[in-house]
Amino acid sequence: MRSGELLYDEELLRSELLSIVPPGYKIRPLSIHDYKKGLMECLESLTVIGNVTEQMFVERFLKMKSKGSYYVTVVVDEVKDKIVATGTLFNEFKFVRSCGTVGHIEDIAVHKDYQGKKLGAIIINNLKNIAIKIQCYKITLNCNNDNIRFYEKCGFSLKDNQMTLYL
Ligand code: ACO
Repeated sequence: MRSGELLYDEELLRSELLSIVPPGYKIRPLSIHDYKKGLMECLESLTVIGNVTEQMFVERFLKMKSKGSYYVTVVVDEVKDKIVATGTLFNEFKFVRSCGTVGHIEDIAVHKDYQGKKLGAIIINNLKNIAIKIQCYKITLNCNNDNIRFYEKCGFSLKDNQMTLYL
């Protein structure tokens, strides 16, 4: 896969420990060619996807890439050539903390047939590692009560409350 087709520099995933995935799987940045590789089916374990056409996917990919602050990461089942887990880190530039950067983790989803194989933890650990490399001073995420234990096992702890306004 050529680097220009990927959402971000694959080097950011290089790590002796964290990029280790079970045999038969590969972790990599999202590619512009991933529409038919099962990303949407994977995200279905998280929420309603709606009708996302290939053109919509490509346009959104290019918008994310132009921003330079989106790190959508996927785990691929190499035998089936299918995306089976995904997660996103994006970085927010701030004035506080001496113009610090905060990482936000979003849209963590493991395909229902692949849950419980540590793929979710692998995605989180790699996103954490990217956040360190791009010099975020903290990472935040929102989750429901059922997933608190999963994130605690990944090193997160409960802090503050989340407020939501649907528009
Ligand atoms: N409650 C308690 N423990 C859990 C849970 C849970 N819901 N999910 C995983 N764990 C534990 C596992 O038992 C394992 O523990 P161990 O290391 O002691 O053996 C550890 O957490 C790692 O589990 P994984 O195998 O990596 O979990 P998985 O690959 O199934 O991924 C995930 C977990 C992402 C929650 C997955 O089940 C999923 O996609 N669920 C549906 C979508 C979803 O809810 N996504 C999170 C939304 S929040 C957000 O996006 C910021």
